[in-house]
Amino acid sequence: MDALITLLPGDGVGPEVTAAARQVLEQIASRYGHNFTFTEQLIGGAAIDTVGVPLPADTVASCEESDAVLLGAVGGPKWSDPTASVRPEQGLLGLRSALRVYANLRPVKVIDELVAASPLKPERLTGVDLIVVRELTGGIYFGDKTRTETTASDLCIYHTHEIERIVHVAARLADGRRGKLCSVDKANVLETSRLWREVTDRLVAGDYPQLELETLLVDAAAMHLLARPRDFDVIVTENMFGDILTDEASMLVGSLGMLPSASLGDSARGLYEPIHGSAPDIAGTGMANPCGMIASAALLLRYSLSLSAEADAVEAALQTALREGARTADIARNGEPVLKTAEMTAAIIRSLS
Ligand code: IPM
Ligand code: MG
Repeated sequence: MDALITLLPGDGVGPEVTAAARQVLEQIASRYGHNFTFTEQLIGGAAIDTVGVPLPADTVASCEESDAVLLGAVGGPKWSDPTASVRPEQGLLGLRSALRVYANLRPVKVIDELVAASPLKPERLTGVDLIVVRELTGGIYFGDKTRTETTASDLCIYHTHEIERIVHVAARLADGRRGKLCSVDKANVLETSRLWREVTDRLVAGDYPQLELETLLVDAAAMHLLARPRDFDVIVTENMFGDILTDEASMLVGSLGMLPSASLGDSARGLYEPIHGSAPDIAGTGMANPCGMIASAALLLRYSLSLSAEADAVEAALQTALREGARTADIARNGEPVLKTAEMTAAIIRSLS
C-alpha cells in the first residue's frame, strides 16, 4: 500500500527515537512491499526556535494531508520560562485539537522479561494487560486560563457529547477484550466528574449492558492501579487524570520509555507518540529507549493503515529482542549490558521475522 506519514521529531530525545521508528517502518515497507513516504515537519521548541511558533501552519497542513503522524516529544528547559508567551506544549495540544484526535489509547502490557525492571513486586505484575483510554481534547488542559499577579485559574469543562464519544471508544474496546470497563472520575468533588459519571452510567447501561462497569474515584484508582493492576481491562478517564495515571502505570512495565500511544478521532488518521517526554537530561547521548516510539509505530500500522500483520510483526520483534536480553539503560538491571538507542533499534530490526 501507499501511505504518507508525517514525522514530527520535536525536542530532546524526540529526534533520536523518531529516527529509530522510521528505520523500523522502512524495514516493514521493504519486507511487505509497501510504499511509505515520510515528510518531516517542525513542532514544539524546535519550531519556536526556527519560525517563532510551536505549531506552524505548514505542520498542520502536512499532518492533515497524511495518513498518519508520528511524533517524538516536545519541551525542555530551554523553553520553560514561566513568563514566556509561547511554549512547546502548546504545539502538541494544538495539534491534538486540530486533528480532532479525542481518544488517546495507552496500552500497558507487562512483558514477563521486564518484570525485574519494575520497582513493584513481580507477583503483582505478571499478566497485567490493560489499556487506558484518555480523553485528549477537552477538560482542564483546554479550558480558558486567567492569570494576575496573585491569582490564576484553569477552567475544567466537559460537554456531554465529548464524554459520550470517548466512552463509546472505550466500551467498544472493552467489548473486544475482557469485557471490563473502569471509569475514573472525582465525582465526590467535581461537577465535571458528576456529569462524566451520569453520562457513562447511562451510556453503558443502554448500549453495552454486557460490560462489567466499575467506577473509581481517581485517588483510589491511583492506589488500585498498583495494588491490583491485573484486574483492569479498559480504563476510561478525562484528560488530566489519564495523563497522570498513565505515567504511574508505566512503572508496571518498568519504564516510561516503554509505553506507546495512539490518538484517534473519527477518521483513520491518527497521531502516534510515546508517552514519555523529551528527557532533556539524556538528549543527544544516544541513551534513549526507542521501544515506546517503535511500539507507537506498530499502533500506527494497525490503526491508521489497517496493516495488522505488520503491526503484530513489530510488536513480536520488540518482545523477542527484550526476551533475548536487549536493554537500554532505563530497563537494564544489575550488570545487564546496556544498549544505546541505535543498538536497541538494530536488535529489534534483527528480530523482525
Ligand atoms: C503526555 C504529555 C503531554 C500531556 C504534555 C507534553 C503536554 O505529558 O502526552 O502525556 O500532558 O498530554
Ligand atoms: Mg504525560
